[in-house]
Amino acid sequence: MSDSDGFTMPARSTPTRRNVIGAAGAVACGAALAGCGTGEPAPASVPPGVKGQVIAKVADVPVGGGTVIHKWKIVIAQPTSGVFKAFSASCPHRGCAVSRPADGLIRCPCHGSEFDATSGKCLKGPAGAPLVEFPLKVEGDGIVML
Ligand code: FES
Repeated sequence: MSDSDGFTMPARSTPTRRNVIGAAGAVACGAALAGCGTGEPAPASVPPGVKGQVIAKVADVPVGGGTVIHKWKIVIAQPTSGVFKAFSASCPHRGCAVSRPADGLIRCPCHGSEFDATSGKCLKGPAGAPLVEFPLKVEGDGIVML
């Protein structure tokens, strides 16, 4: 299966008793954290090979939206003019690829989690953690991963 961004979704299998119990625990955990986690995104290193690379042009990242860099599995958002953010495109719930940012949100198409496009904070479960944020800089007309 793939979404409109061309991402391939993990194959789904018939749920086992263990999977169902695990999923219920994840939802409960998210609820216990007042809407799927209040923590800040953990600092992270960029994926191997991407450090120092220009991964997008500024002009390709719309204000209030963003884009998914499929090659690196990174989401670039521009929540407000001139402010760029990079996050892992892997949903912390079960690893599905999130969709491109829109309306200030980054959504996961698999189970409906939603993340703030400015901070990566999880706003709606079942994900129980924020998106991992990566450092970047704007250099000329390019977005460079640090
Ligand atoms: Fe389940 Fe993203 S993988 S909400």
